[in-house]
Amino acid sequence: MADEVAEESAEVNSELPAEEVIKTGPVAVLSQVEKTYQLDSVSVPVIKGVNILVRHACFTVLLGPSGSGKTTLLNMIGCIDRPDKGEIVVADTKVAELNDDELSDFRARNIGFIFQNFNLLPVLSAYENIEYPLLLAGASAKKRGTRVPRLLEAVGLSDRAKNLPGQLSGGQRQRVAIARALARKPKLVIADEPTANLDSQTGAAILNLMRRLVERYEISFLFSSHDPEVIKAADDIIYLKDGLIQKIQRKGFGESS
Ligand SMILES: Nc1ncnc2c1ncn2[C@@H]1O[C@H](COP(=O)(O)OP(=O)(O)O)[C@@H](O)[C@H]1O
Ligand SMILES: [Mg+2]
Repeated sequence: MADEVAEESAEVNSELPAEEVIKTGPVAVLSQVEKTYQLDSVSVPVIKGVNILVRHACFTVLLGPSGSGKTTLLNMIGCIDRPDKGEIVVADTKVAELNDDELSDFRARNIGFIFQNFNLLPVLSAYENIEYPLLLAGASAKKRGTRVPRLLEAVGLSDRAKNLPGQLSGGQRQRVAIARALARKPKLVIADEPTANLDSQTGAAILNLMRRLVERYEISFLFSSHDPEVIKAADDIIYLKDGLIQKIQRKGFGESS
């Protein structure tokens, strides 16, 4: 499987010159973002004034120790949660200007999520899990019938379409979760420690797959991770500590803070 992915990846790389990617604007911009949790009567500042630019069609890793605020930050960029202060722009939209209904619609159209525990629906097959967001979006049977097999193919699971999640390995479940996250052609895919529950070989194959998808579909991936393999695969690395950005390393651009 890993070989298959590597082979296809070489083929896809040649389709998309790097200059094209760099020309396109950022998929997310955070300006002076702050988030404080209230625990009983105590205010706990968790994100303390963060500026981040997430490049389009790049693989960005958010790195930081446990408790540094990674999940909090990803949830705000993913429009699951709102900041207390500062501005977040995702896909050229100031998300603070959207009401809750508009925000959930915006999220469904623009952002895909991959969860650490996969969050697949156990009674639905691989095919049906991937089809589910398309059904919710009211996509026609014809559209679903072309898109789902393509997604299964993209994640190398065409021969597992009918399997339930319980009949798939951890790596295969993660592939289904990736395909489902991609179903509505999001601009940004967010994953909170996506390889944490996978063995290293499966994790590496999944990473290869994600890199290939960045290039094939021009999707921006934003992951939090401690996994050295994930970090190696990144275009950009954002270092977070105690709710502050320590530095940002961009492949080919050196460091900034
Ligand atoms: N819902 C919440 N209420 C109160 N405190 C929270 C909540 N969620 C997270 N925290 C606190 O915020 C800090 C950052 O958490 P989190 O974003 O989950 O960090 P990370 O993902 O980097 O481990 C931690 O100290 C955590 O205890
Ligand atoms: Mg976390």
